[in-house]
Amino acid sequence: MSTVLRLAMRAGNFARFSNFAMKPTQANFQAQIRQITTSFVQKTGDFEYEDPKSEDEVVNITYVLRDGTERKIRGKVGDNVMFLAHRYDIEMEGACEASLACSTCHVYVDPAFKDKLPEPLEEEDDMLDMAPALKDNSRLGCQIVLTKELDGITVTLPTMTRNFYVDGHVPKPH
Ligand code: FES
Repeated sequence: MSTVLRLAMRAGNFARFSNFAMKPTQANFQAQIRQITTSFVQKTGDFEYEDPKSEDEVVNITYVLRDGTERKIRGKVGDNVMFLAHRYDIEMEGACEASLACSTCHVYVDPAFKDKLPEPLEEEDDMLDMAPALKDNSRLGCQIVLTKELDGITVTLPTMTRNFYVDGHVPKPH
């Protein structure tokens, strides 16, 4: 991704923060917290390379790959589902690196856990609308952060994704 593009995205995030600051409602506060998570924590990917420090932190997650095989991973509280996948060489692309500007991290969330996730941001819904093979339980993997409540969750990779944003860019695991 180009520097110009990154700066433009950061400017966009700042604009959203300014907007939240002017309207301090409960809904905006919750959205702001989620935005902080997606904008600042989830874009690094370094955190996901740290092992859980105690059993209390462990969040088990199963990735169902495109060929149907399962990968069971010991994640931890705070892990981003997409960056965690990268750590374990699971084929979840993530072309825009969690900037909510693609749908290549599209996953199907186990319906039993769907309601345990925060509501998607408008930007996530917009990106999902352009994802092929959309379902009721579709989410963007880069917007899912593991919590204890999600222990035992399964996410399934769709058979295909569409990279309409950063054509040809394949991010490398850290
Ligand atoms: S990596 Fe692009 S929206 Fe998730």
